[in-house]
Amino acid sequence: MTDRPDSTDAANSMWGGRFAAGPDAIMEAINASIGFDRRLYAQDIAGSRAHAAMLAAQGIISDNDAAAIREGLLTVLSEIEAGDFPFKTALEDIHMNVEARLKEIIGEPAGRLHTGRSRNDQVATDFRLWVRDQCDAAIDGLRALIGSAMGQAEAGADWVMPGFTHLQTAQPVTWGHHMMAYVEMFGRDLSRFQDARARMNESPLGAAALAGTGYPIDRHTTAQALGFDRPMANSLDAVSDRDFALEFLSAASICAVHLSRLAEELVIWSSAQFRFVSMSDKWSTGSSIMPQKRNPDAAELIRAKIGRILGANVALFTVMKGLPLAYSKDMQEDKEQVFDAADHLMLALAAMSGMLADLTANTANLEAAAATGFSTATDLADWLVRELGLPFRDAHHVTGSLVAMAEGKGIDLPDLTLADMQSVHGDITENVFGVLGVHNSVASRQSYGGTAPDQVRAQIARWKEKLA
Ligand code: ARG
Repeated sequence: MTDRPDSTDAANSMWGGRFAAGPDAIMEAINASIGFDRRLYAQDIAGSRAHAAMLAAQGIISDNDAAAIREGLLTVLSEIEAGDFPFKTALEDIHMNVEARLKEIIGEPAGRLHTGRSRNDQVATDFRLWVRDQCDAAIDGLRALIGSAMGQAEAGADWVMPGFTHLQTAQPVTWGHHMMAYVEMFGRDLSRFQDARARMNESPLGAAALAGTGYPIDRHTTAQALGFDRPMANSLDAVSDRDFALEFLSAASICAVHLSRLAEELVIWSSAQFRFVSMSDKWSTGSSIMPQKRNPDAAELIRAKIGRILGANVALFTVMKGLPLAYSKDMQEDKEQVFDAADHLMLALAAMSGMLADLTANTANLEAAAATGFSTATDLADWLVRELGLPFRDAHHVTGSLVAMAEGKGIDLPDLTLADMQSVHGDITENVFGVLGVHNSVASRQSYGGTAPDQVRAQIARWKEKLA
């Protein structure tokens, strides 16, 4: 490492009192987080403004100083928002960049802001506020997506399609039922973000470096000013806890799994072999060499997002594992993972919501496919149980023989003659043909949560009420 850059000569103005020289340039590079934690500027300024107001209310700093600090912080905020804030790597992070700029703007009172707090509770507060906002964004995104899925379900509560197990035709189901399965998944995701939000909504501010502070601060006031339900009850926990980020990433990972499964179905369904759905031009791309192509790129990218989101989850779990109390600098590695995961989750939710809203189901193809693959074999077996009193196991066997016969003739079950049927079981009557159609099949599945259109409509109504 002979060509390494020179160290900066000046000691850090924010904490350099005991240092004679500045950090090595590589030290500065590994230490700085301003390159990414600048995204926390609004939360950082909100936290500092609440803290300054509380310090004055408690008589710890003067009202004039608090007013100057609070006003100056608004100037800093507008500078950052206008895009002309001079972020400095030498000042490490967003907290010190904001405070140093405040000093340039208002002078001496800026130095009183950091009374009774530390960057440890400051960053924990900023990040919690940021992740809380992302829970809200995820909740909004999920509501929109659920709306799109319910729109499809309502339109096609009685459209028949093949239901699969092992991706082999199993039994006919309704399009609405299939869509509502995703509504259940996304509904659980929504409640996970709500739960996580409620649990994380406690304020670390005032925990100071780790042990609390001797100043007569009021943590309840700052908690309330920042929209938290209460202050965190243990200062060591307050500065070292990142459960809120882990919970966010865990909820995001599960949600990304659901998005990935739906995306995969859309990829399969839009293929020439299936033609179950047509994706709108808005959500497809062409090929530069094959003129006929319509590629489901958005669905493929949504399918892939779980990679980085779960990656972020694993990364942060690994960072946090084994960290002793309280704060360690390792924890600075929390932010980029969460930023990236949140950005891509919101994008994927929005894309899926739009894609689903614009999706056209090819109902004729769905119904034709539903009737193939002996999909009503179970209905036939059930008829033998119900009408002839056969034990289900025997009925299963008789039906299996009939399927083999139809397969041998290259026809479907409803195309067998009554004589064919009776050659396998003499008591079968003409009535059996009534249960071999796909519409009868789905309409008969009236058990709670089943695929019958009435059941699907009941579930849609339940969800509408729940989301209202
Ligand atoms: N940039 C730091 C982080 O993201 C802020 C807290 C720094 N605290 C400290 N004692 N060095 O975690």
